[in-house]
Amino acid sequence: MKMKNETAIITGSTSGIGKELARTFLEEGCKVSNCSRNADKVKKTVEEFKDKFGDSVIGFSCDVSDTKALKNAVQKTVEKFGSVRILMANAGLNRRYGPFNYLTPEEVAEDAKIIIGTNLIGTLNTISAVLPEMIKQKYGRIITLSGGGADRPLENMTLYSASKGGVVTFSKCLALELSQREEDITINIYQPGMLKTNLSKDVKIVSGWKSNEEMDTNIELAFEYMSGDIRKSCLTVIPFVLPENDKNGENFRGFSLFKLIRGAMKMNRMMKKEAKSKK
Ligand SMILES: NC(=O)c1ccc[n+]([C@@H]2O[C@H](COP(=O)([O-])OP(=O)(O)OC[C@H]3O[C@@H](n4cnc5c(N)ncnc54)[C@H](OP(=O)(O)O)[C@@H]3O)[C@@H](O)[C@H]2O)c1
Repeated sequence: MKMKNETAIITGSTSGIGKELARTFLEEGCKVSNCSRNADKVKKTVEEFKDKFGDSVIGFSCDVSDTKALKNAVQKTVEKFGSVRILMANAGLNRRYGPFNYLTPEEVAEDAKIIIGTNLIGTLNTISAVLPEMIKQKYGRIITLSGGGADRPLENMTLYSASKGGVVTFSKCLALELSQREEDITINIYQPGMLKTNLSKDVKIVSGWKSNEEMDTNIELAFEYMSGDIRKSCLTVIPFVLPENDKNGENFRGFSLFKLIRGAMKMNRMMKKEAKSKK
């Protein structure tokens, strides 16, 4: 077991990538503190993990926009586990999918507040709540979550991409600051790749753009040809949260770029074929 002496807080760990990360860390012997907004989901997740991992798991209902709740989660984790050596700032969401110009100014304002509020500001809040503890113990491993459009242009998710671009820039700037300090604290950026989770399954289409039926077909094709294996993706995080890690401010991928490009090309061919057959 690679993480026997480790303690972690994972935000947004009641479903998808966060929950799989929690499972992966627990299996490696790490003590894990889970959190998300929905108290029932937190309770269920903790109960599920407790069966196998006993006292190594705790959980809190905590919205990453709520600094008081975050500070409480950190304090309770330290009380229970003695430290927070790892932070996975994973909590995130998306709203409507489609071209920016189809959104009304009101929809842009509403979605931006929620998406940027959760993905970017939530990440800053979480790190800010945990960092004093890491500075005190002179050690920490922080991972933030990148996402589609953060490092290269991508259509139809402009607000989400803007939030993730912000996360990447912030993480690199903080890495520079941390590298100038005496403590051994690093921050790196995880690109999980396209994975079949609630976030990607439950996309809502911007009104007036494509029909739900057309979009469902596209999503199914994307999952078939482009999505990766969540377990394999989460395993790529481990080297970056161990004491041996000396990377700081780096992006790392949980997927094969070659497979993604090949899948995207196959998907485009399938979509063209389908469009032709409908003519
Ligand atoms: N799936 C992908 O293809 C993909 C690709 C690249 C990056 N990502 C990133 O990976 C991360 C995890 O996403 P996922 O795909 O695993 O989605 P998911 O299955 O929908 O899980 C999101 C988790 O975040 C929690 N959450 C949402 N808003 C929150 C808030 N304000 N405060 C605290 N917790 C909150 C949710 O629980 P509650 O509803 O109970 O709060 C849930 O546990 C996100 O940052 C996402 O942007 C995903």
